[in-house]
Amino acid sequence: MSFYLDHAATTPLRPSVVDLLTQSLLTQGNASSVHSFGQKARQVVEQAREDIAAAVHADRNEVIFTSGGTESDNLAIQGLFSSRNPIGGVARPIIVSAATEHHAVLEPIEWLAAKKNAQVHWLKTGSDGRINLEELEELLSSKAEEVALISLMWVNNETGVVQDIPAVAELASRFNVPVHSDAVAALGHIKVDFATSGLAAMSITGHKLGGPVGQGALLVSRKTKLDPIFHGGGHERGMRPGTLDPAGSSALALAVKSAVAELDQSIQLWTDLNLRLVQGVITAVPEVKVVAVDLELGTARVPNIVNFIFPGCAGDSLLFLLDAKGVAVSNGSACTAGVTSASHVLLAMGYSQHDSSACVRISLGHTSTQQDIDAFLAHLPEAHERAKSAGFTV
Ligand SMILES: Cc1ncc(COP(=O)(O)O)c(C=O)c1O
Repeated sequence: MSFYLDHAATTPLRPSVVDLLTQSLLTQGNASSVHSFGQKARQVVEQAREDIAAAVHADRNEVIFTSGGTESDNLAIQGLFSSRNPIGGVARPIIVSAATEHHAVLEPIEWLAAKKNAQVHWLKTGSDGRINLEELEELLSSKAEEVALISLMWVNNETGVVQDIPAVAELASRFNVPVHSDAVAALGHIKVDFATSGLAAMSITGHKLGGPVGQGALLVSRKTKLDPIFHGGGHERGMRPGTLDPAGSSALALAVKSAVAELDQSIQLWTDLNLRLVQGVITAVPEVKVVAVDLELGTARVPNIVNFIFPGCAGDSLLFLLDAKGVAVSNGSACTAGVTSASHVLLAMGYSQHDSSACVRISLGHTSTQQDIDAFLAHLPEAHERAKSAGFTV
């Protein structure tokens, strides 16, 4: 038997999405062609656009299809930076963000700093992973004219911590600064309403919702100007050229629609599983630290992600020992070419190097059951004992 507790990395395709994808792969015609084949393909794409817009409460023209979260984040950050700094110098060099962001946000920002004279203001995060709005207000009060954009994720994919994005956007709007949010871990896990969020741009991806990998979108408000990072045809309001993908777009739309329609039910299920999980882990390993546990479940912390720190254990030892028992978890830390390191998110929240390497992230999704939690809890004590006696390798 195997048990999958790593839905924040990617969640299984929904059977309904597999059916639709298989069917729509047969759609013939380029959606930009004027003949009837082209028009049919275009109809499929436009229906998908409309469905996504309805699910996130946006206008259909605000949905720009991309290849996923990474591309959406790059397009938002590079595109906003470029449009806010038209040719002839860098009038607005500052990008505001936080060190707890996903690498898909951190790296384009660092690239802009290295290559395009951007300056970065990293907002401090508290031990609960949330930024301080007063720090942001102070910065904007003195330097708003020089700020190109703010990029802050809605829900952190390692800790489940929810950032108050509407409050950030409301504050930024007083200074006319556009805000982008990576909502990859938020959509389908908390209520996400693009229209009332005040955001200029918002990234989503399909494979965290039961859709295919390689399908995502950037929501770009009608008022927002954003330069493309790819150049080619004039597709997608000129922001993202490339032949449209009817099958992928409709599969993405179905995943988004399904996840949003099931939200209340999913939150109830995940909350029950979350409480059982946390209680079980504390009973099995009393010295465990549950990250951001003081934040209210459901509003300040999503119920489908829990990050545990097991002091004295290397997170990757636990991961391998549990995997050997058929239980798939994540240590939520950067893993490049098989080399794991301390979680940059936990480090930014003020945890020590050891604690930041001793974490295990459990994440739930649309196929999660109580058996998954019970299997993890059943194998944890032995895995913990063995990982603890192996000690640290970092
Ligand atoms: C918060 C967050 N942003 C962005 C991404 C990247 O999305 P994609 O895999 O669709 O490129 C991920 C995926 O792990 C993520 O968790």
